[in-house]
Amino acid sequence: MLDVRGLAVDHGRLRALWDVSLEVGAGERVGLLGANGAGKSTTMGAIIGLYRCAEGTITFDGVPIANASTARTVARGVALVPEGRRLFPAMTVAENLLLGSYGAGRDAQGGAALDPVYALFPVLADKARQAAGELSGGQQQMVAIGRALMSRPRLLLLDEPFIGVAPRLVDEILDALARIADDGVTMLLVEQNVHRALEFVARAYVIENGRTVLEGNRAALLGDEGFSRKFLGLE
Ligand SMILES: Nc1ncnc2c1ncn2[C@@H]1O[C@H](COP(=O)(O)OP(=O)(O)OP(=O)(O)O)[C@@H](O)[C@H]1O
Ligand SMILES: [Mg+2]
Repeated sequence: MLDVRGLAVDHGRLRALWDVSLEVGAGERVGLLGANGAGKSTTMGAIIGLYRCAEGTITFDGVPIANASTARTVARGVALVPEGRRLFPAMTVAENLLLGSYGAGRDAQGGAALDPVYALFPVLADKARQAAGELSGGQQQMVAIGRALMSRPRLLLLDEPFIGVAPRLVDEILDALARIADDGVTMLLVEQNVHRALEFVARAYVIENGRTVLEGNRAALLGDEGFSRKFLGLE
């Protein structure tokens, strides 16, 4: 479904990605792991058209999408839950959610369009008219995920969705993500907590200094000495 090959991306004059390759098949849940500054968010941003690709290819359903506009790629069925959530804090929860349906090749939708999001995260229905900035970190993350779902993506990119989220809500959000995946949505998850990531995804890629250095399923990664040393502090 998603095929990234030899991706290179520059931030200004600095090269952030040198050689990132990964594949995500329809219906899969795949992780993208790596240290701070490895290039995880840059990879996600390049897929969704926020950053120019200097080299390499990105295809979605066989269609080249590198350097396509974000609106175009969203319309094709890709959505991003960005790092740090990026909500509009002064706007209401409902308004933030509705923003996700704009630019997705769909007409602005009425309130009923929000029902599936409220079914997934009932607390958001209670808080629909509250300013998003008044919600807890976990509830704001629910809004960010709900907003991404409004474009009805087939591939959901999640960039560190559990930062600043209380543990109890992490479990609730993980349950919701599992239900979204069961509905047929493919997922690529960036997550700092390797154990948590490997509980949710079937396999993962590791990037280091802008390069894909390792790929494997849970058992293979946990059995890799270098991986354990770097990410699990077993040195
Ligand atoms: N907008 C930007 N302008 C300039 N440099 C950037 C920009 N965004 C990221 N970088 C640099 O590009 C490299 C990759 O950053 P990126 O944010 O993709 O890493 P990351 O793996 O998501 O890290 P983190 O775990 O901290 O979120 C880093 O060296 C970072 O400093
Ligand atoms: Mg990041």
